[in-house]
Parts: sequence; structure tokens; C-alpha cells
Amino acid sequence: MRECKILHSLIIRTCVVLVVFLMNGANADNPSRFYTWKITYGDIYPLGVKQQGILINGQFPGPHIDCVTNDNLIISVYNYLNEPFLISWNGIQHRKNSWQDGVQGTTCPIPPGKNFTYILQAKDQIGSYFYFPSLGLHKAAGGFGSIKIYSRPQIPVPFPPPAGDFTILAGDWFKTSHQQLRYILDSGHSLPFPDGLHINGRGWNGYTFTVEQGETYRFRISNVGIATSINFRIQGHSMKLVEVEGSHTLQNYYTSLDIHLGQSYSVLVTANQPAKDYYVVVSSRFTSRVLTTTAVLHYKNSFIRVSGPPPGGPTIDIVSSLGQARSIRWNLTASAPRPNPQGSYHYGMINPSRTIILANSAPYINGKLRYAVNSVSYVPGDTPLKLADYFKIGGVFNPWSIPDKPYYGNAYFATSVMNADYRAFIEIVFQNWENTVQSWHIDGFNFFVVGMDGGQWTPASRSKYNLRDTVSRCTTQVYPRSWTAIYMALDNVGMWNIRSENWERQYLGQQFYLRVYTPSNSLRDEYPIPKNALLCGRASGRHTRPH
Ligand SMILES: *[C@@H]1O[C@H](CO)[C@@H](O)[C@H](O)[C@H]1NC(C)=O
Ligand SMILES: *[C@@H]1O[C@H](CO)[C@@H](O)[C@H](O)[C@H]1NC(C)=O
Repeated sequence: MRECKILHSLIIRTCVVLVVFLMNGANADNPSRFYTWKITYGDIYPLGVKQQGILINGQFPGPHIDCVTNDNLIISVYNYLNEPFLISWNGIQHRKNSWQDGVQGTTCPIPPGKNFTYILQAKDQIGSYFYFPSLGLHKAAGGFGSIKIYSRPQIPVPFPPPAGDFTILAGDWFKTSHQQLRYILDSGHSLPFPDGLHINGRGWNGYTFTVEQGETYRFRISNVGIATSINFRIQGHSMKLVEVEGSHTLQNYYTSLDIHLGQSYSVLVTANQPAKDYYVVVSSRFTSRVLTTTAVLHYKNSFIRVSGPPPGGPTIDIVSSLGQARSIRWNLTASAPRPNPQGSYHYGMINPSRTIILANSAPYINGKLRYAVNSVSYVPGDTPLKLADYFKIGGVFNPWSIPDKPYYGNAYFATSVMNADYRAFIEIVFQNWENTVQSWHIDGFNFFVVGMDGGQWTPASRSKYNLRDTVSRCTTQVYPRSWTAIYMALDNVGMWNIRSENWERQYLGQQFYLRVYTPSNSLRDEYPIPKNALLCGRASGRHTRPH
């Protein structure tokens, strides 16, 4: 009887999913993977004390998404929290489909007790990424997990298949609840220094990676923290860098790697040392007090536990970090998602048609701490911008509400949107006059990090650009009192979030939306609004299909 019921509900669920799937035009030529996720609160102990965490199907971190280039991902999210919830997908480009991006400016939150089915496609992508809850300070409570996009079988990968593929989601952690952290920011204050770091949701030696002597393993490491850059290293082992956010790199060896907020790296590590256990170390970078945590690399034939202090790493030194960043380059002959080599796209031969300069700042507005881009501190509209645009609801945003050069007047609030032309090829310069490291992420695109250096960017800085073999990625750091320049092809129509990956900064206004626009109204350029799109704010009661 019980089995019958379960079977029955399964059939209904499958049918519902199938209908949703067909009506939303998931790409039928490619395989689909189905996920059902229940979002709940539950007890977690990342730093050894009990805290309320955000769990997905009871798990913290959440379930892995493992897929292959072009797969459809159909993810039904049931929100059992007592507040609205939304998931975003760091690094998934959502080609023609910013509807699925899962940030406040594109997608209505899933109300408590409701569900929403995301229909994504890993279109033309490979590599290592992660998903995370995008509203408020939810990210400080968990709800994140890894995304691996494997190459299709016929596409060559520039290294032999590893004996194992490990995920490391690491970052800073606070013992304070996400509600309390949000309250601190809402009251106009900065967050306290983090209480510690975690590796895959655990504290000191709380997680073990078991390896076989002589074998080579892939480690995919993402910084899922909200406040600080980290340094990653494995005691006694060097790491061969092979991938950065979907780019295959020159396979250089590193003894430690700086990973800024929101960034993801893949390294190969060979278990070629005497059989014992070794520390896997993560420490905070560019902080005056250094936080450290460890996991364990355990050789299967080892009887010797880790002991003594873990190996130290770089702390506040910036020059070595900049040097390392410049050494991370594209392997021009390796393939990535497509069979042709990465280097067959000559990004350095294209002249950008527009230069956007973005300066971050930390102004006080009405006596409260805020963050701003070109003096505009972002505040959400009453309706997701993508929906306001689609339904032509006036007064939500103005597509020219943020200047594309620094404006050094008083900072002000706006629901800032910058208009840009579909198919333009642009240059963006991130100019950082603050004394902290910035981490900038752009949804919907990968971009080429053509240069970074200290001081003021000027047109003459272009003479030092790497126009040959820099990596293409989706998150870049900007060092203190320095600049970073990127090239980006606007080949993806939509409303795309450009944000600080430091969550205090993001939450208090260091973000805006890039509206990549074409007047064409063609399904070739952008998918229609999903039939199942949630409607909220002034889009409530509208229809996702004409009657
Ligand atoms: C999911 O939400 C839809 C409305 O968006 C609703 O019709 C459906 O019943 C919900 N499914 C479950 C299992 O709650
Ligand atoms: C670049 O990729 C090729 C595969 O196309 C590989 O054989 C080669 O070793 C790689 N070169 C470096 C320097 O990593």
C-alpha cells in the first residue's frame, strides 16, 4: 500500500516535471538531469558549536551537481524556511536565459512553503563552479554546493583522467546567525571579523581525503566565504594547476594558491610522498589576524596521523599574489568545451568598442555605512528588473542610472542598471582606491583578465596588457590601490548582475545590473519568459504567456 502511494506520487511528480520541462523549452537534444531539493533549517557544527544552518535535502554543504557540457539541469526547489529563498549559480552562464539566474534582479524569491523549478543548461561550458543562496546573508548559513561540468566524451581533456575528483568548498565562517549578521549591516555597521574557516563545512581535521599512493587526484577548490580571500596548500605536495572557472591553464606547479571570494580552481595532486597523513590547509589572506583550518590528506596505507603545526603560508604580502595571478595563463592548444583549441579565439585582436571604468567606494549615506560603484549604491527595486523590463513596468529602474566612469561626487542610492549593446566587445577597468582586496563577479559571461597592476589605470596601461594567453573566467580580484582590466564579449542578452563577492559589500550596494539589450525580440537571441516564472512585486498577476 505504502509502496503504491510512493509509486503513484513518483509518477505524478515525473509527469509534472515532464510538462514543466516541455513547456519551458529545455533543450531536448541534450540529456536532462532532475533534482528535487528540500530547503530546511537544521543544526550544523562547522566550528564545533551548534548553529542553525541552511540544509538542502538535510545536507550541508548541499548536494553536488555533476553534469556534462550542454546537459539540462531541472532543479525543483521546495522552500521550507520561514522566509523567501533564492539560489544562484556562480559561473553558469545561462545563455539567452537570465530568467534562471536566481538573483533578486532577475527572479522572484520562492515564498516560504512554495516551490520553483529552475531549468538551466550547462551550455558550452566545462569546469568547476558552485551554487549558493543569494538573498540577504543566507550564504553565511550554508545552502551552497559544488557544480562540476565534465567535458563531453569526444572532447580531449589536456591531462589523463585522475584517480579521483575531490571537491573543496572552503571559506570564512561566523558563529553569528545570518539574521543577526543582516541586522548588523541593516544598522549601518560592518560585520565583525570571521570566527574561523571551514573546509566542506567542517573545522580542524574534520574532513579526510583518502588517496592511494602513486595515484593522481583532481581537487576542485572554491572560496565560498563571504568576507576574506584564502590561501590553499597541501603539506609536502605541490599542486599542478589545470583549470580556472572553465579555462584550461598552463600546467604550472604551485606550493600554495590564493583563492579570492567566489573563485574556483582545479589542481592535480599526485600522492608521491612517504605514506602518512598530511595537512590540507586553508588560511585567511590579507588579514592582520590569520585564521587557519585544516583537513587531512590520508594515504590509504598510512598509519601516521597528522601532528604538529600545519605549514604556514603567505599572509599579507600582495606582490607575490599579483605575481601568481599573472602566472595563471591559458593553454592555447588545449580544448575546453569545444573541440577547437581555446587559443583559436583571438580575444587580443578585437578592439573594444567601449571602456567602462568601475570604482568601488565605502561611503556613509544618511549616517549609515554603504558601498558604491561609481558613487551609486544599489538598492533593489520593488520588482525584479528582468520582469519589469519584460512587462514594461515603468519606474522600477532606469537603464542609464549608473555612470560608466567614476563620478567622485556624493554617493547616492539607485536601482542601478547600465545599458549595453548585444554583441559589443567591451573593456571594463575595476579601479580600487580602497585598501582592501576586491573580488568582482559578473553573471552571464566569462571574461579575459587582460591586466592588473598598482595605482591608477590610464589608457597607457594598455601597453602592458596580456593580449595573448590570459585566462577567461567569471570572478577576478583587484588588489588594494590597484586596478584590474578585463575584455568581455557581450554575446548573451539579458539582465546580468555585476557584484562584489564580499557579501557585506554586495548587500550594502556594491553591485548593479548590466542590461545587455537588443531590439530584435527574437527567440534566437533570448528565450521567452519561463512559463513557470514566479511573479511578484508589480509583476504580480501578469501572465507568462499571452492568453
Ligand atoms: C509547486 O508549485 C506549484 C505552483 O508554482 C504548485 O502548483 C504545485 O502544487 C507545487 N508542488 C508541490 C509538490 O507543492
Ligand atoms: C597544453 O595542452 C596540451 C594538450 O592540448 C598538453 O599536451 C600540454 O602539455 C599543455 N601544455 C602546458 C604547458 O600545460
